[in-house]
Amino acid sequence: MGSSTQSPQSPRSPQSPKSKAASPAPAVAPLSAEAQNAAGILPAAHWTEQPLPEEDIDDGASSIGSFSSTTASLSSSIYKYREVHGRTYHAEIGNAESWQPNDQRHVDAMEIWYHAVTLQMGGKLFFSPLEQKKVNRALDIGTGLGLWAIDFADEFPNAEVIGTDVTPIQPSWVPPNVKFELDDCNKEWTWPDNTFDFVNLRYLIGVVDDWDALFRNAYRVAKPGAYVESLVPGSYFLSDDGTVKEGSSLDQWGRVFREGGKRIGRTFSILEEDLQRKGMEAAGFVDIEFKDFRCPMGTWPSDKEEAEKALWQKFAVEADLEGYINYMWHSVLGWTADEAKAFARHLRRDINNPKIHGYMISRVVWGRKPE
Ligand SMILES: C[S@@+](CC[C@H](N)C(=O)[O-])C[C@H]1O[C@@H](n2cnc3c(N)ncnc32)[C@H](O)[C@@H]1O
Repeated sequence: MGSSTQSPQSPRSPQSPKSKAASPAPAVAPLSAEAQNAAGILPAAHWTEQPLPEEDIDDGASSIGSFSSTTASLSSSIYKYREVHGRTYHAEIGNAESWQPNDQRHVDAMEIWYHAVTLQMGGKLFFSPLEQKKVNRALDIGTGLGLWAIDFADEFPNAEVIGTDVTPIQPSWVPPNVKFELDDCNKEWTWPDNTFDFVNLRYLIGVVDDWDALFRNAYRVAKPGAYVESLVPGSYFLSDDGTVKEGSSLDQWGRVFREGGKRIGRTFSILEEDLQRKGMEAAGFVDIEFKDFRCPMGTWPSDKEEAEKALWQKFAVEADLEGYINYMWHSVLGWTADEAKAFARHLRRDINNPKIHGYMISRVVWGRKPE
């Protein structure tokens, strides 16, 4: 299992986009004030009218580095990104209304996130009962930086691992048994039936149009006896002692993502709606099991292990807080940059408040295709 805090020269360093191109305005119309109100989303003025002490808030500027890689043969059109309030997002393939930026700043945050998730999973890459000698081909859908695919390939050196994504942010220096492909998981998958021994669907939150269709695709390409596994975070910040209050920035974070997900047609309520289990069952997977993880965030846990997890989760969000909220707050709520910044400032303060004992639940579900 590798660490996620690699130097820029490491094999894992993601590629930076070659260029960014002006692109069409986002297709979604912002939610009406009535719809926001009905969803319990507080107006921007709630945050702008509660000034906080001046903090050194990064305004979310992204650094676009130079690009050089073996994937230069890919059509240059895939590097034409759409731009929303100064951040870039993938375009061209897949549903271009992606909520996560793909610029260097976000890529750096995703790398920290990978480490935070690894800690939450107790260092495990998967929970399915995989047998080394039975895994010859594995598929990682929405691979992001490809870190899971690379770690899995290290653990299964005899397996071929394919990672797919709609945006080319994967590194070019990878183990020989890893391959990355640009592919839209919301389209019919092109691999033949019965191809893979393991299909990994990790953190595809706000990415999937139809979770049942996703698991049907996974079932078709899985070999008999193969496993599918899906990990998602919940969409609520919780606390056992009521310190995450209704109307707080942490409460609003989840509300906006849930409403935004509905708006873009890709739900964030996967865990709450039990879509992993339902989708696996409907597709025909059997022996379905699940495990929930408590994922604290901030500086509040006193237990050493929990404190480490919480700190890394905090680092991961803070590394690009503006990038996480940019699309939803600007394009879905229609807020100005200053309004979104005011919210971000409150969120950052609450994440760092040791009196707020916030955590999320993540759920991993796995199942087997019958022989
Ligand atoms: C939250 S990241 C998860 C990355 C990785 N699976 C992990 O767990 O570290 C979600 C990824 O899904 C990708 N994605 C978005 N829409 C997609 C689509 N339609 N098909 C495939 N991947 C997509 C994004 O580009 C992003 O890299």
